Amino acid sequence: MKKIVKIFGFAGSLRKTSYNKAILYAAEELLPASAELKIFDISGIPPFNQDNENDLPEKVKEFKRKIKDADAILIATPEYNYSVPGVLKNAIDWASRPYGNNSFEDKPVAIMGASIGFFGTARAQYHLRQSCVFLNMHPLNSPEVFVTNADQKIQNGKLVDDKTREIIGDMLKSLIEWTKRLHSSF
Ligand code: FNR
Repeated sequence: MKKIVKIFGFAGSLRKTSYNKAILYAAEELLPASAELKIFDISGIPPFNQDNENDLPEKVKEFKRKIKDADAILIATPEYNYSVPGVLKNAIDWASRPYGNNSFEDKPVAIMGASIGFFGTARAQYHLRQSCVFLNMHPLNSPEVFVTNADQKIQNGKLVDDKTREIIGDMLKSLIEWTKRLHSSF
């Protein structure tokens, strides 16, 4: 029997009607049968405090455990002031600690993002890719998913733009292939 690729996804927004949560839900619908996607809500992760990195808050323990269990990671990032939102960076910082116990170590990752602007989070995504270097993750390079004008393409929490749905589907197929190439267990 073929092994399923376990993908763990989270969005960098706490907003109830977040466009980035919406594209994660779209990814869940578009996922090939050879993979599963578990979505995690980062709300409730407290501000990072290095004093507590050897006695992690419960929500952080759960986040770290689920990242470690996954074969691949999917991140949907908003763009705040040309970069990643603080809540996303904060969650990533927790998961990378304590030193020597980086949950993201050696994980393939696909990055996507939705914004109401014309650049579809491109600038935030490149900042996030920079963090992936120190996290020792393996970002998927292509296709890139920049969801522009998200307020038009997402209606009532659902991604309704066919072209965007198609590219997210393509990205998921590429992430699955990328994961299989990187992990000898497949
Ligand atoms: C924004 N927004 C935004 N959009 C963008 O394309 N580039 C940017 O630099 C910013 N900067 C920014 C800063 C702050 C503090 C906020 C609150 C918003 C708009 C952003 O794209 C929009 O709020 C999205 O809806 C955020 O994503 P979620 O929460 O819908 O997933």
